[in-house]
Amino acid sequence: MAKHTHQFEFEVLDHEVELNEQDRNLLQKAKETTVHAYAPYSRFHVAAVARLDNGETIGATNQENASYPVGICAERTLLGTLSSVYPNIPVDTIAITYTNHATGNSNSPASPCGLCRQSLLEYEQRTGKPIRLILAGETGKVLIISSVKDLLPFGFGPDDLKG
Ligand code: THU
Repeated sequence: MAKHTHQFEFEVLDHEVELNEQDRNLLQKAKETTVHAYAPYSRFHVAAVARLDNGETIGATNQENASYPVGICAERTLLGTLSSVYPNIPVDTIAITYTNHATGNSNSPASPCGLCRQSLLEYEQRTGKPIRLILAGETGKVLIISSVKDLLPFGFGPDDLKG
């Protein structure tokens, strides 16, 4: 039997002012984009804004539904849009943030759910470039993850279908 360990490094900033200007602008755009969330049920308004290798930025939000499981997270709304509008353009960085109108507390980073990690990972593999993630609340610490694969070790991928 062999034992393996898995670890990864990520950055923790005490405050968004520590971000470089380009990243701070992306996070700012994500914060502004949360107003477009349709989240009347959870009142948890999420935005994901991507900076692409072609210089474009494109954003998306969570879209809920009275039939709760039909709702879709901001990250997967973003990937569907990206893949349709800018197919095959690698993504450099995605800033993800939220405003929690249910509690009024949005002061720590939230990270993508399991479904979104799976979708983000395949997008990263498809476009062949690690996607950086900037995770932040309205205030407080900011996390920088250098690649989606760090968030989903042992993720299922196209190769698994080949057996
Ligand atoms: N949500 C996202 O948009 N992204 C995530 O990674 C986690 C959760 C949304 C789904 C739902 O509309 C609301 O946040 C509360 O779970």
